[in-house]
Amino acid sequence: MPKPPQNLTIATTGASGAIFLRHLLLAVNADDRVEAVNFIASDSALRVMAEELDIKGRSNLISQILGPLDSAKKGSAAKRSAAKIQLQSNDDIGANVASGSYPADAMIVIPCSVGSLARIANGVASHLIERAADVALKEKRPLVLCVRETPLNKIHIRNLYRAADAGATIFPLIPAFYYRPASLDEMAREFACRVLGHLGLPQPGSFRWKG
Ligand SMILES: Cc1cc2nc3c(=O)[nH]c(=O)nc-3n(C[C@H](O)[C@H](O)[C@H](O)COP(=O)(O)O)c2cc1C
Repeated sequence: MPKPPQNLTIATTGASGAIFLRHLLLAVNADDRVEAVNFIASDSALRVMAEELDIKGRSNLISQILGPLDSAKKGSAAKRSAAKIQLQSNDDIGANVASGSYPADAMIVIPCSVGSLARIANGVASHLIERAADVALKEKRPLVLCVRETPLNKIHIRNLYRAADAGATIFPLIPAFYYRPASLDEMAREFACRVLGHLGLPQPGSFRWKG
């Protein structure tokens, strides 16, 4: 069994579904196996997060995304979570995760727009998100793309195939319903658990189908 990833790159782009990002960040924050998270948000992600999570600008972005579900944390627990997630600028092509020499273990793009999918699938690495994804693919590290769009046109479908063919895992932002989520938060948390479980970070309290 390979070691669980300790150093994660988490990127968010301008597709709908910011609540799924919130729950993924809450889960990695609470997971002591994860030591470092480099977090990157595209400009369009900010626009969508303003609509969906009432995020206002980039100041205290990580705390704003984690929101009230995390603000109950006090003292050392709060400091540790603030230190664990490092915000990187999407414009900074010289950030740590832009290089294969930086020991990132895996990358998740959640939600992943079809625009970002297109750039990743075609090696257009002009911003940090696409460059970090490009690095993950060239270094044969796990890259999970939580793509959200509907309906899909043939360009999207070709790009999904191209990204999968290059080694990415296409993990569409499609939640399950058979565990009967009682709220959007429960649904998004379970989805985050599935993504992390897929990367070797099984989460406490996640749903297990017993047949
Ligand atoms: C409220 C809102 C919702 C959007 N939802 C989606 C979506 O679900 N999927 C998608 O691919 N693009 C969506 N878009 C469009 C993208 O944000 C847009 O194509 C953007 O250029 C993507 O940029 P990025 O990939 O650099 O983040 C949405 C835009 C807005 C404002």
